[in-house]
Amino acid sequence: MSESASVPVLTIDGPSGAGKGTVSARVAVELGWNVLDSGAVYRSVAHAALERGVAVDDEARLVELCGTLDLSFSPASDGVKACLNGRELGDALRSEEVGVMSSRVAAIPSVRRALLELQRSFRRPPGLVADGRDMGTVVFEDAPVKVFLDASVQERARRRHLQLKEKGESVTFDRLFRDLEARDRRDRERSVAPTLPAQDAVIVDSTSMSLDEVVARIISLVRRSPILVP
Ligand code: DC
Repeated sequence: MSESASVPVLTIDGPSGAGKGTVSARVAVELGWNVLDSGAVYRSVAHAALERGVAVDDEARLVELCGTLDLSFSPASDGVKACLNGRELGDALRSEEVGVMSSRVAAIPSVRRALLELQRSFRRPPGLVADGRDMGTVVFEDAPVKVFLDASVQERARRRHLQLKEKGESVTFDRLFRDLEARDRRDRERSVAPTLPAQDAVIVDSTSMSLDEVVARIISLVRRSPILVP
């Protein structure tokens, strides 16, 4: 067994807008663990590709790009902060252009393979909270605690609508609802690493739970598991 395999991992997978980022950051802070935002890994590849003019069908150069990413993550109260090559990217990773490119890049099997070791390298003591779509099914298949964080499309659209309104952006609820539904279908039905719960995942449906309740439920799952948390 490699040394890192003894480091506990909590995987939090689930569809877009279920609150994985905020929940992962809060849980990581409470446990004092490291955090991996794997969505930001795919977004970073997309960002670097757009910056360097690498086309989405240039698989060889995309795979090469994956080897050059120097990424780090830190948990904050409003989510996980990502740093790429020493620069905090924040909103640059969240743009629509990067989002669209990242979902295309994430559907390429050789890119997913090239990012496996990078993602696994975040498994460092005392533990890791890994947020994504395939954390429990592929990247950390041996994780001792796996959560699939879900919420109804209606509720996810309602939360996103509220967030955007607070930022002063005007998008209709119906548009958000339809976009989320379409994205869910694409993520669930894609052939590589579809967004599905691992067989041994605990499903946490946050539709009628507060953020505090979700965090408390997940922390209790970790503390009840045989992995050692002081
Ligand atoms: O969660 P997000 O929106 O930041 O993810 C960006 C894209 O990356 C999205 O299209 C889903 C994809 N993704 C993935 O395929 N596998 C992961 N483990 C995380 C994200």
